[in-house]
Amino acid sequence: MDFILRKAEPRDVSDILRLVKDLAKYEDMEKQVMLTEKELLEDGFGDTPFYHCIIAEIQGERRTDGTNHHTATELMQVKGQPVVGFAMYYFTYDPWVGKQLYLEEFYVMEQYRGLGLGSRLLRHLSDLAITMRCSGMMFVVAENNEPSIQFYKRRGAEDLSQEEGWRLFRFDKDSLVKMAAPAEE
Ligand code: ACO
Repeated sequence: MDFILRKAEPRDVSDILRLVKDLAKYEDMEKQVMLTEKELLEDGFGDTPFYHCIIAEIQGERRTDGTNHHTATELMQVKGQPVVGFAMYYFTYDPWVGKQLYLEEFYVMEQYRGLGLGSRLLRHLSDLAITMRCSGMMFVVAENNEPSIQFYKRRGAEDLSQEEGWRLFRFDKDSLVKMAAPAEE
């Protein structure tokens, strides 16, 4: 089977949300996905994109003469759900070392894992990070997601929470509202 990687377009938001939900389900955190297609569309494809996505899409089998053809099952997949994986990322800045690519989400549907798609997505992001003169690629992995931790470690990732002792924090919306300037009377 043949796959292509391409930049996400506005028409991809329903597939992006489907895969975001699939990954949250895989991490047992499905109920925490609040985002809608509308917000994904506004936030990723407006004047100031807050995120970027690379999409992995099925192209079907390639014949020996170089043209594409599909088996009946593949044709259904191509028509129904050709988008089978994605990586969501953006750029951040570390005042010690400069530009960083932040990998926010990385997911390949279960039936397409182990075919090299994840590695291709990482290669694509690494090329991009180098072109953009980033000094690294950052990401967070759930502590119980051992298969992915091993997947990243096999490719040279360092576990900073263990090696450097960083802890992940967040102010939620309520905390922000409490800290923000009170509305003028
Ligand atoms: N499922 C998973 N891995 C398999 C399978 C299989 N059925 N069969 C073999 N593998 C092995 C491969 O041999 C390969 O080993 P290697 O590391 O020695 O090369 C590795 O697992 C998979 O490599 P790829 O085929 O290149 O990657 P894949 O297309 O399977 O995608 C990914 C990797 C994205 C991690 C995928 O497994 C996945 O979606 N997992 C569940 C979701 C997840 O944990 N995502 C990452 C969360 S962390 C974050 O988002 C920042």
